[in-house]
Formats: sequence, C-alpha cells, structure tokens
Amino acid sequence: MKQKYEKIFQEFTFPSGVEVKNRIMVAPMTNYSSEESGEISERELAYYKERTGGVGTFITACAYVSKDGKGFPGQFSIDDDKFLPGLKKLAQTIQSNGTKAIIQIYHGGRQSPPQLLPDQQPVSASAIAAEREGAAVPREMTEEEINNTILAFGEATRRAIEAGFDGVEIHGANTYLLQQFFSPHSNRRDDKWGGSLENRMKFPLAIVDSVKKAVEEHAKAPFVVGYRISPEEGSNPGIQLEDTLQFVDKLADQGLDYLHVSVNHFWNGSFREKDKTESRIINIHEKIGDRVTVVGVGSLHTPDEVVEALETGVPFIALGRELLMEPKWMEKVQAGEEDQIRKTLSRHAQEELVIPDPLWDRLMNVKGWLPVED
Ligand SMILES: Cc1cc2nc3c(=O)[nH]c(=O)nc-3n(C[C@H](O)[C@H](O)[C@H](O)COP(=O)(O)O)c2cc1C
Repeated sequence: MKQKYEKIFQEFTFPSGVEVKNRIMVAPMTNYSSEESGEISERELAYYKERTGGVGTFITACAYVSKDGKGFPGQFSIDDDKFLPGLKKLAQTIQSNGTKAIIQIYHGGRQSPPQLLPDQQPVSASAIAAEREGAAVPREMTEEEINNTILAFGEATRRAIEAGFDGVEIHGANTYLLQQFFSPHSNRRDDKWGGSLENRMKFPLAIVDSVKKAVEEHAKAPFVVGYRISPEEGSNPGIQLEDTLQFVDKLADQGLDYLHVSVNHFWNGSFREKDKTESRIINIHEKIGDRVTVVGVGSLHTPDEVVEALETGVPFIALGRELLMEPKWMEKVQAGEEDQIRKTLSRHAQEELVIPDPLWDRLMNVKGWLPVED
C-alpha cells in the first residue's frame, strides 16, 4: 500500500468499545432482492459476501421495523423473531475476515408505496403527502402508533443483537419516517410531537432512547449505535441547515457511536441557500467536534479522494456506488493496485460483480445513478 493511503487503514475504537480495522464503511444500499416475505435471500447473501473482508464496517440495506413501514419491494424485515435465522446468516456472512456488521433499521412513513402495506395506507406525522407527483396522502399516526413504532425500533435492536450484529444504524435520513417528524413539511402536529423545532426532535430522540435501552438490556458485548441524518430537504417548508445544526447538537449528547451525514456529494454546500458553499458534512463536524464521530459520504471513488476527505478531520468515509462497481476496492488499495479500481459499470459484469437481478435492473435503468458503459 502507498504510504499516502495510510490514513484509510487506521484502526478505530468506537465509544461502545467496538473496534474496526479501517476507516471505510460500506454505505447502506437497498438491493430489492430479499424474499417477498421479508426473509433474507441467498442471492443477496452472495452480494454481501463479495463485498466483505476488506472494508472495516458494512452497513446493510435498510430493514423495516414494522409492516406499516415497508418501503421497497424486495426489502428485508427485522420486525419479527421468525427472521432471526436469516438475520444471523447475514451477520455471519458480513463478519468473515473481520468486517463489522451494522444493520440499518428503518420505517418509510409516507414514502412507503401503498401496495406494499398491509392495509395499503402509509402513515406519517401528519396527513400531508410528499411533494411528488402521485404521492399518497398518509394517515396521521395516533399517539399509540407513535409509541408502538418507538418500541418497534427497540425490538429491532434486540433482534439485531440476538442475530449477532455489531451494531445498528438508525435511519433518520433520506425523507423517511424519522425525518418526517423532524420536517416542518410533513409534521404539522400540534401535540407534543410537533410544532416547535424542539418538539419535532422528540420522535427521533425517543427512538434513540429506545434503541439505547435495548442495547443496555440485551447486549452482552460492545454494540454500536449510529444515526443517519440528511442535513436538508427540498420541500417547502423544509428542513434547513440551521435546523439540522441544532438537531445534531442535541444528537451529539445522546451517547451515539457515530453520526452519518447522508449527502450525494461530500463537498457540496447547501442546496437551499446557495451562498453557503462549504461542505455540509464539514459544517456538522465543526458543530459537534469530537462529541460524536462523523461519517461522511458522497461521490467519492478513488483513494486520493477518500484521503482528501479524511484530511478535513472527518474520521470515517462510507462508499456506496463505488463498491457496487468495485467490490475489491480495499484489497486493491492495500495491494498498491489502485490503478485497477473500476469507476464505471460494464453492462457485461453482473455475474462477476455478484449483483442480484432486481438491483442490476435498476442500475441499468435509473439514469444518472452510475456511469454505465458497454
Ligand atoms: C442502490 C442504492 C440504494 C441505496 N439504499 C440506501 C438505503 O437503504 N439506506 C440509506 O440510508 N441510503 C441508501 N442509499 C444512499 C447511499 O447510502 C449513499 O448515501 C449514496 O449512494 C451516496 O454515496 P455514494 O456516492 O458513495 O454512492 C442508496 C444508494 C443507492 C445507489
């Protein structure tokens, strides 16, 4: 390995005590390839296996914590103990060669396609549809549903522990349910869960508490709790960077192991306020300092780009699409073969890259996701 890449290979110990061998995480990526029932499938285990070993930490695709939160066809479930055998297999598959396995836990809220839900009715903080053509109008959650969902995240965490995962990542980003409670667009409640910025933080913070309580009660070994956040959203009204800086200040006091900032491009500034051009990941890192470890992500591909991002002081980088195109990224950097790293997706490489059909079809058909070549 070239000396200039040493930063990538530094070990790290999270506050919970979990040790990781380097600074790269696989970003959570939905693969649409689980069984209809919510079971993990063999084809997705093969996809995970191909990308494990080199990276220090693997964050799985998001798993739904309750049936009313399923967000994708072919999404896997962590809402019932009957899924434990499959979840165990997934944890073990990732953990070969010392990669830590973190499962992302999720509720889709108003983004759930009605046809995937038991009563075809998405739920959310308020009965406000997303600003998207054809978006379904969700039903406002009752107090009981809110409390049950908070408990469901705790139960999902207990299952993650029983299945042998090294941690959970709470999916508070990308416009799903936790973000919907924080957002002034989707949360118009006038009870204790809505209204002021402080009230809109209550639901995600209650979920953090519920997850941490489950860890205290059930974990017999160190267990990571991470949180993923989106710094802004495009809707009007919508979450602004300033709101997020207040929220992360609060999150930094919750004893989390890391805060993962979900953006498409590591270096991009605010998309709502064009005069704020500094990277939002750096803004957040400056706000919370070392109180909680920041994970950055977004359009990073080469080891030079990753080192440049790490040099800002952000301690971890997650790679998403790059690891779809190049499962052996870490191994190549380690062997000094970084010039062999793939940066495009060949139409003929599906088998070699071990990408299941449902994910492959999307990668081929959704414009702008990946540079596809013949
Ligand atoms: C196919 C695909 C599936 C994704 N699924 C998830 C997901 O389940 N949970 C999540 O938080 N982000 C998800 N993302 C976002 C990625 O984690 C990541 O933030 C984004 O791709 C930007 O990073 P990259 O440029 O390294 O790919 C997904 C992205 C892709 C391309």
